[in-house]
Amino acid sequence: MEFMLDTADVARIRDLNELITVAGVTTNPTILTKSGRMPEDVLPEIISILSPEQKLFVQVVKTDYEGIMDEARKISAMRPENMYVKIPVSRDGLKALKQCRKEGIKTLATAIYTPAQGFLAAQNGANYLAPYTNRMCNYGDGVAEVLKLNRMIKENGLDSKVIAASFKNVGQVSELIENGIGAVTVPADVVYEMINHPATRIAVGEFCVNWNRAYMRDTLFD
Ligand code: E4P
Repeated sequence: MEFMLDTADVARIRDLNELITVAGVTTNPTILTKSGRMPEDVLPEIISILSPEQKLFVQVVKTDYEGIMDEARKISAMRPENMYVKIPVSRDGLKALKQCRKEGIKTLATAIYTPAQGFLAAQNGANYLAPYTNRMCNYGDGVAEVLKLNRMIKENGLDSKVIAASFKNVGQVSELIENGIGAVTVPADVVYEMINHPATRIAVGEFCVNWNRAYMRDTLFD
């Protein structure tokens, strides 16, 4: 199971990387703009935080085939290993996914709204498939559609991995993990919601109060 962070906020990447087990970081053009920094500044900083085993995903901005391939080659060269190029599953994107496979460029097919799109991207050799869970909920049961794509990939022996993306709440993430999704990428806000349960804070507070009251100190050993 791979749990990734869907953010380009370096402070949050640093913090969460210490708190939980992070398999990688995913970005897209909008996520990079939200960092409030230039991509040429923020991306090297993210790379410096990650260990070589942790994956980084950067999306192309160009939308025509030649432009996508040009950016894909440059993104792929940003790091010696575990560098993935995100390519939307448009007509030109599908064509580029095929070419990237031939050139050995690792890819994630993104902006997937239907299992059928994901299936075609898998056939073209995408390493990862990112269905937009929450956005798909505007058209039906997003979680069920993501699980359907996952089954389609597994049942047909395709070697792409579904990484569910576009989450707005903890429930969506939990339901997919419960049903055996192989990877998720989760925005930092939602990750903090997963970590910070108010009842846990109250329970810890009670332990401290009871301990202090009984032993007049706040440590286990004197
Ligand atoms: C990640 O791969 C996607 O680009 C991202 O999860 C999309 O999230 P959004 O639907 O919140 O924009």
